[in-house]
Amino acid sequence: MRPVARVVIGLALLGYRSSAMSTLHTPLTFRSGLTIANRTVLAPMTNLQSHADGTLSAAELSWLRRRATGGFGLIETCAAYVSTDGKSWPGEIGIHSDEMLAGLTQLASELKTAGAPALVQIFHGGARAAQDLAGHPWSASENDADAAKPRAATEDDIHNTIRAFAAAAVRAKKAGFAGVEIHGAHGYLPCQFLSRVQNTRTDGYGGSYDGRARFLREITRAVRAAVGSDFTVGVRVSLEDFGQSVGMDLDEGLTLATELVQDGAEFIHASLWDCSRMTAKRPESHAITLLRAALPADVRILVAGKIWSRADADKMLALGADAVALGRAAIAYPEWPQHATADDYAPAGPPFTADQLVAADLSPAFVDYMKRWKGFVA
Ligand SMILES: Cc1cc2nc3c(=O)[nH]c(=O)nc-3n(C[C@H](O)[C@H](O)[C@H](O)COP(=O)(O)O)c2cc1C
Repeated sequence: MRPVARVVIGLALLGYRSSAMSTLHTPLTFRSGLTIANRTVLAPMTNLQSHADGTLSAAELSWLRRRATGGFGLIETCAAYVSTDGKSWPGEIGIHSDEMLAGLTQLASELKTAGAPALVQIFHGGARAAQDLAGHPWSASENDADAAKPRAATEDDIHNTIRAFAAAAVRAKKAGFAGVEIHGAHGYLPCQFLSRVQNTRTDGYGGSYDGRARFLREITRAVRAAVGSDFTVGVRVSLEDFGQSVGMDLDEGLTLATELVQDGAEFIHASLWDCSRMTAKRPESHAITLLRAALPADVRILVAGKIWSRADADKMLALGADAVALGRAAIAYPEWPQHATADDYAPAGPPFTADQLVAADLSPAFVDYMKRWKGFVA
């Protein structure tokens, strides 16, 4: 029996409404050969639940495992630091040393058993690293206007960090993950290099677009070279300014996406924050339409940003996305993919009570963290 038929029959046996199944519940294959059962992805979400030394905790495992049993086709871990100087939160999971391997191996294996392949999001905070955990932060450039007052990266910092991303990807492969997502978005280190504002370097890693893009492109090439072609590699990008990502330009972002694919990325994850909005630079165009036109058809596009209902997800697929990544909806509704077989599925929005979140397998530490997200916790 074809996998898609198995999924449909399985869901019907479980009693889910099977009205108007859309592309959302069909499998998707990546260039590496990875096939996921449907197009729902758990977005990477920092949750402060790991042990202080970066190793996996039972709480982190159970929050992710619940979303795998809940039907997500692909699970992404939270941002995982590739070197200690990039660690940005207490309780952030680490992938910076082989000491992390036992926990990572358990995580990959339990998620697979629960029904979903998983990616590690590999990350460096740069200027946004936490000083008490990471030491004095560094970035593309020195910046006295930034409260963190980062120093400028030396060539050694740059080359060591590129190597650290590659080593982290090798660890993810060893641990049994299906792939990695390089965090190139949200104003963290690779984004600080890309920024027209934050990167004021005058050497080969600054200046023109080519110089500013070089760091992320070299990371992508190093990661792909280290893991080979049978391991999924993608990059998360911020195409325009939002929050901490400043100095982005839509056209540079589209060029970057095509170049990252030449460098070995097989998916681009567009973090839009609000997918109902058109781009700021070209209000007549949606970012996903532009990305789809820019990228080869077999390069996968993931999209995130306020996807809450089945209709929201279908709209993104219709524009050309291959899969939708859910953040806050997946926190509140771990079984969202199963319920979303109903074409009118539109669950209630926040606020949620702490009890509701604990029942969704968030630990008290994660519930506390969610209080920082305006209006989420009652
Ligand atoms: C609690 C929380 C933690 C997050 N942590 C990360 C992270 O580690 N890496 C990342 O790329 N995005 C992170 N994000 C952004 C989400 O992946 C997602 O792009 C964003 O929340 C928008 O999707 P949503 O509207 O479905 O929540 C985080 C979001 C939330 C709510």
